[in-house]
Amino acid sequence: MPDDPGSRDRREAVRKGVEIRVEPDEAAALQATAEVLRETVRSAVTNAGCASIAISGGSTPRGMHRLLSRPPYAEGISWDRVHLFWTDERLVSHEHPASNFGAARTDFLQSLPRSPGGLHPVPVSSDGDASARRYEEEIRRHFHQRHLDEPVFDLILLGLGADGHTASLFPGSPVLSEQRRWAAAVKGGEPDVERVTLTYIVLNNARRVLFLVTGDSKAAAVRHVLTDAAPVLPAQRIRPPAGSVAWVLDRTAASLLPRSLFSV
Ligand code: 6PG
Repeated sequence: MPDDPGSRDRREAVRKGVEIRVEPDEAAALQATAEVLRETVRSAVTNAGCASIAISGGSTPRGMHRLLSRPPYAEGISWDRVHLFWTDERLVSHEHPASNFGAARTDFLQSLPRSPGGLHPVPVSSDGDASARRYEEEIRRHFHQRHLDEPVFDLILLGLGADGHTASLFPGSPVLSEQRRWAAAVKGGEPDVERVTLTYIVLNNARRVLFLVTGDSKAAAVRHVLTDAAPVLPAQRIRPPAGSVAWVLDRTAASLLPRSLFSV
């Protein structure tokens, strides 16, 4: 994680190989996440000429997305080398307020000085399975162009629901045990609409996964996900064997984490 002057108010810990970073407030958590995105793109472009990034939806990342539309991120990130995907999408039109792509377009995409090298929204249709298949084909096509037969995102940004879901992987969903498909149609969540989500096959194949979680409504879920032994919640099963996982939390989302986590 990049260093900055605010480090004295920050608490950091590593638990079972998972980095946990607690920022003093939401603004600091959003900025820390934007910095990780900038750093990841910089090193991916240096090493491979482009960066494959998947972002999530919901309300939490919107403040971070808005940061990306402003200096130093709007100009300081090689957007023309970035291929942008979504971890999940609600199957509504891009003009609908629940559209994750629509929100990202409003929050930063439409105001970037250079458009991303590749924009890969989930194909929206009334047939969730067809949308999921087409999205998988799109992901395969992209990684084939990177001479890869499997999806290896440089960075996947995830959120956390109060029920422990992440992307649109909801507790009890049959998609949690998907062994083959990279994307799948699901129903549920808030709003309760048909969705397409990336499956664990893709999420656990990433080089880097970062959870951005803020607010006290998430404190109980954060505690369960980061301290409970048994991986019963969907977010607990994000453990890329060849990648890293980090959590960027604000103080309120971290408020139920045991102090002992940070005492080393
Ligand atoms: C979605 C998200 C979802 C989100 C959580 C948290 O499209 O709904 O990808 O996984 O990250 O539901 O949502 P909030 O940030 O709105 O609390």
